[in-house]
Amino acid sequence: MFPSVDGRLAILALLPLSLVVITALGWFIENRQRKPRLPPGPVQLPLLGNVLSIDTKEPWLTYTKWHAAYGDLFLVRILDQEAVVINSQHVAEALMDKRSRIYSDRPYLATVEPFGWSAVTFGFTGYNDEWRLSRRLFHQTFRPSSALKFRPMQISRARDMIVNLIDDPQHYHSHFATFSSSIGMSVIYDYQPSARDDPLVKIVENALTVGLDIATPERAILLKLFPFLLKLPDWCWGSSIKRDARISTEHMNEMRDLPFQCAQQHMVANSFLGQSSMVAENLQRMEKQDEASKPMFETALKQAAAAAVLGSYETTSSTLMIFALAMVLYPDVQRRAQAEIDLVIGRDRLPTFEDRASLPYVESILRETFRWQPILPLGVPHATSSDDTYDGYFIPKGATIMCNVWAISRDEKRYPDASRFVPERFLDVNGALTGDDPAGYIFGLGRRACPGRYSGDASVWSAIVTMLATVDFSSAKDGQGKVIDFTPQFITGIIRYLFRHSILLSLTVASL
Ligand code: HEM
Repeated sequence: MFPSVDGRLAILALLPLSLVVITALGWFIENRQRKPRLPPGPVQLPLLGNVLSIDTKEPWLTYTKWHAAYGDLFLVRILDQEAVVINSQHVAEALMDKRSRIYSDRPYLATVEPFGWSAVTFGFTGYNDEWRLSRRLFHQTFRPSSALKFRPMQISRARDMIVNLIDDPQHYHSHFATFSSSIGMSVIYDYQPSARDDPLVKIVENALTVGLDIATPERAILLKLFPFLLKLPDWCWGSSIKRDARISTEHMNEMRDLPFQCAQQHMVANSFLGQSSMVAENLQRMEKQDEASKPMFETALKQAAAAAVLGSYETTSSTLMIFALAMVLYPDVQRRAQAEIDLVIGRDRLPTFEDRASLPYVESILRETFRWQPILPLGVPHATSSDDTYDGYFIPKGATIMCNVWAISRDEKRYPDASRFVPERFLDVNGALTGDDPAGYIFGLGRRACPGRYSGDASVWSAIVTMLATVDFSSAKDGQGKVIDFTPQFITGIIRYLFRHSILLSLTVASL
């Protein structure tokens, strides 16, 4: 049977159409093969992405679980935001360090502006000229060679802290906080806070307590989805977020302006002589500039100064809380460190920075403190400023980049029995330090890496070594002398820190 004339005409007509379809299909397949794939990752739901499967309080735990399934680099979607999660130091270095030109932006966080954070830190500012100016000002004061100058002051503040701890051991958290802020405020404003109830320290505490508690990631998502919440009238249900944002902004502005004004007044009263704080040095520099550039410079200086206070306050005191927890839970570690100090320094003087290289066990405790309970388990998120390809995977412009510090620090191959506090993991068979230093990932990577790390590391070291040399930490006991059990409680947000009174400890002068 032959097809009819109409049928033959239809076949003839279909021929060019099939040719077009086949060519388009070929082009599509070829293009697909040429275009790199997105990184692997868990299945996404329409509109929501992976948001329902992520532990909102401790997202790093979900990401660490997915690390086993999807590898060192995977992609998740949180509503409309694509986020690439990096789970190994090697990949973090390859992208955030070696390609820092692409990986140094910050993602949009809906809470930063309304809650007043942009006024007090360049930590969330995009990768732009405003950030460069603030970071340059910051760097002049905190670069490694300048940070060396703070060391005698850091040791002296650590000793003041011991006096406070012995005098009033119950409020150990408050003494850690005073120590942190007194270092920051000396360097930045040439201001020495009093041991208790200092008005300027109170201002910083207020800003941070409000800011950290309410500008949480959950609120950032809520505000991104429903920005009109900031416009609701005060009487309306749901307007509490607007009120919180207003209170937070007031506290943040106060923190940026009041210590700065104090430093300015102090300078005028002392005729600009012998002023060596970050603010004083830069204000003197500003005097020589042309009038037009002064306002921008002053704004950047205020912001860089507040960023330094903010950056040092919670990070340093939270790290000291982790150290205290470790000393209570692992008394053998404390004893071994004290034995090292006794052997190297003896008992008739206190440690100084000149002793640091001779105290490898103390150094391994510092490393383990940073690793064991990282205070920024996902670092601070970066964002890409252009498309990129890595290991055959396509990483789009504007993607959020998270370095899963938790996964790196809990990698059982690198750190066997990772949930235990074992400083010895950083020592070789001869008791010398190994080349593995968590500072390589806990301070972030690339151009956004923590600019206060040299001063932060030295503050924590001076506090730890001075405490080990002078006091004993142990578990708190009840009236019958029985150890009181406790479960440490962490508060989570961008920073993961121990709840103030969650370590039940007893502090005594070190036994001689
Ligand atoms: C002692 C413990 C500290 C830890 C663990 C720590 C950790 C970090 C991390 C992970 C970042 C984000 C880095 C990135 O985006 O890749 C960061 C940023 C920052 N840190 Fe620290 N930090 C500490 C101490 C300090 C101190 C003492 C200061 C101030 C003197 C400071 C000031 C800052 C600032 C201003 C940024 C924002 C940098 C930017 O966005 O360009 N930090 N820190």
